[in-house]
Amino acid sequence: MAISHIDHIGIAVSSLENVMPFYEKGLGIPVKETEELPDKHLKVAFIPVGDTRIELLEPTSEASTVHTFLQKRGEGIHHIAYHVDDIEAAIAHLKEMGYRLLSDTPEIGAGGSKIVFLHPKSSFGVLIELVEGEGH
Ligand code: CO
Repeated sequence: MAISHIDHIGIAVSSLENVMPFYEKGLGIPVKETEELPDKHLKVAFIPVGDTRIELLEPTSEASTVHTFLQKRGEGIHHIAYHVDDIEAAIAHLKEMGYRLLSDTPEIGAGGSKIVFLHPKSSFGVLIELVEGEGH
C-alpha cells in the first residue's frame, strides 16, 4: 500500500460555530466548506493547510461516535487520516497482516471519498482513517 500524505486530522468539537472563529480569525486559516453527514450524525468543517486539512467534527445527535468521544475524552484530536491511492488494496494488505479494521469494505465519506477506519487496538491507541479520492 502507498500512503502519499496526511489527508486530514479529525478534531472533535462541541460546536463548530464556537470553534471556527479561532481557526479563521485567530490562526488565520479559513474554513473551506462545511458539510452535514446525516448517516454519521455529524457536521464537519474542512480547513485546508497545505496538502492536509483540519476536519472539525461536531456531533448532531447522541448516536454519533463523536458524541461518545466528547463525553469520555473531551474536545481534542479524534483521528488521523492517511491518503491512499487504492483503498481496497490497502484493506486487503492490512487484513493479510492481521490488523483489524472497523469494516471490511470502504464507506463513502465526506465529498464522496472512500474511507475505512482501523481498529484502535490494531493501531496503538490512535484512530486511523484511510482515504481514497479527493474528498474536497
Ligand atoms: Co476523517
